[in-house]
Amino acid sequence: MELRETGNGVDSWKEVNLIYNAALRQIETKMEILNEEFQHVHQYNPIEHIKSRIKTPESIVKKLRRHGYESTIENMIEYVNDIAGIRIICSFTSDIYRIAEMIRKQRDIHVLAVKDYITYPKASGYKSYHMIITVPVYLSDRIVDTKVEIQIRTVAMDFWASLEHKIHYKFEGDAPEHIQSELIECAKLVADLDARMLTLNEEILAIGQTERIL
Ligand code: GTP
Ligand code: MG
Repeated sequence: MELRETGNGVDSWKEVNLIYNAALRQIETKMEILNEEFQHVHQYNPIEHIKSRIKTPESIVKKLRRHGYESTIENMIEYVNDIAGIRIICSFTSDIYRIAEMIRKQRDIHVLAVKDYITYPKASGYKSYHMIITVPVYLSDRIVDTKVEIQIRTVAMDFWASLEHKIHYKFEGDAPEHIQSELIECAKLVADLDARMLTLNEEILAIGQTERIL
């Protein structure tokens, strides 16, 4: 581990790891509670599943270096926003905004930044809704507002992003032209599939409601 230790309160990788892990667990629990409550009120789960990870020290050092920062604990806390990352996978595009709104409304969560790659997909075809938030972690002698990157996407978007990531990694970001254009084609199919599944689901829900009224 190349991260040099400093004296800013959080001063060892072990402590950093503990704090980011605690932050991740808090967000995971919050999401589970929202999902359960939603199931209770609406008989429906907006969240399919959740994945979370802590960035490896190697990958943190690489990112700091890429941005021209020295590898210190201080710099990683300040400049690396995705040390703690959580991915929330939903069934429908509408669930994404619903979940983002529920996160935004939580009093102890502060939203630092949002990137809506669903309304504005990346040139690669990548779609997902990103939030950088902070959540307070209560330690024995202090409270540490800790950053977490939240990615919210549909099952179909996640399927696409996983394959694209694998390809990107394999070709070190320089995939052959035909593979890149095929990926963009697939991204369009994913968007179309998501839109059609959403319409279908809304139709089914509407039928259910009509039956309940009658
Ligand atoms: P990173 O330095 O990669 O963390 O990106 P960033 O700080 O510019 O933020 P951005 O919101 O663009 O991306 C954050 C994360 O989203 C990445 O680490 C990936 O997990 C994911 N991501 C962003 N763009 C792509 C993409 O084109 N393809 C895939 N598969 N994932 C992406
Ligand atoms: Mg990242």
